[in-house]
Amino acid sequence: PIPVVIDCDTGVDDALALLFAVRHPAIDLRAVTCVAGNTDVDGVVRNTLTVLEQAGAGDVPVARGAARPLIEASRSARHVHGHDGMGDLGLPAPARTPVDVDAVTLLRREILASPRPVTLVPTAPLTNVALLLRTHPEVTANIERIVFMGGAVAVGNATPVAEFNVWHDPEAAAILLTAGVPITMYGLDVFTRVVVPASDVRRLRSSSEPGARLGGELLAHRGPGTEEDPAGGLGDAGAVCAVADPAGLTTRALPVEVSLGPGPTRGQTVVDLRPRPGEAEIHGESREQPLVDVALDVDEDRYVKLW
Ligand code: BDR
Ligand code: CA
Repeated sequence: PIPVVIDCDTGVDDALALLFAVRHPAIDLRAVTCVAGNTDVDGVVRNTLTVLEQAGAGDVPVARGAARPLIEASRSARHVHGHDGMGDLGLPAPARTPVDVDAVTLLRREILASPRPVTLVPTAPLTNVALLLRTHPEVTANIERIVFMGGAVAVGNATPVAEFNVWHDPEAAAILLTAGVPITMYGLDVFTRVVVPASDVRRLRSSSEPGARLGGELLAHRGPGTEEDPAGGLGDAGAVCAVADPAGLTTRALPVEVSLGPGPTRGQTVVDLRPRPGEAEIHGESREQPLVDVALDVDEDRYVKLW
C-alpha cells in the first residue's frame, strides 16, 4: 500500500476522506495532522480522533497543528460544517488524545521514517504544510507527491474566484506551490462533481457497521440532497480517491500562481491555460512558474464506486 499522511481540518468531508483512507487496502495511513480551518484547531483534533475511532483506525497518530494562518486571522466555516465542524451530528467525544508533539514534528518524523516515499494529502488550509516545508526542507527528498484539495481553475467558493483552503491561508498555499515536489491540485472544478447517489446514502445510513453509518450521515449532511433524496458530495474524499486510483483523474501540467495582493482576487489560484504558457516572457516578465498537475476532469462514477 501507498504510505499516506493526511493534513486536515475535519470537517464533514475531511471525515469522509479519513474513513476512506483508513479502510481502503491501497492506502497505508501513517499519521493525521490537524490545522485550523473549518473550525478551531482543538475542534479539528476532537473531530479527527472521533472519526478515526469510528472507522476503527487503531493507533494512527494524530497531532495538533497551527491554530491560525501564517498572516491573517482565522475565519471559520461553521455555516457549512455546523458549530462543531462536523455537521452537529452529536458524535461521541473521543477516548484517545493527540500525540504530545506538534503537527510539524509528527509530519517530519513520519515522512523521514517511512521506508517508501510518502504521499502527503492536505485537505485543509496549508499552514502546517508550509511550516513543515520551510522548517524542514529535507523532508521533500522522501515525499513522492503532494495531492492537495484546494484552489480552482474556474469558480471559487469562499469568494467568486478563491477556494476556501487557499483563501484561508494564501501565503501558505504559495509556499506549497513552490516546494519543488510533484504536486496534484484537486480543485473545486472536480471536487464538486463527485456525488454519492441517494440510494447509496440511504443504504449506508441504515448499516449496522458504525463507520459505514457515519459515512452515510456525513454524506446526507453535505448535500446537495434533501431528506427524501439525500445525495451527498464526497468533497475532500475525492482527493484521497485520486491517490488510490490516479487514473480516474485527468490532469494537465500547468503553471499555477496564488494571488497574494489585497482585494477581490486574494487567494485565487491563477492557472495559466494559454496554449503557450511561456508567453509571459515576451512581455518582459521571465518569471519561473512552477508546474502543477491540475485536475481538469474526473470520472465521477468511478470515484463514487471506489469510495
Ligand atoms: C474545502 O473547504 C472546506 O470547507 C472543505 O472541507 C474542503 O476542504 C472546500 O473549499
Ligand atoms: Ca477540508
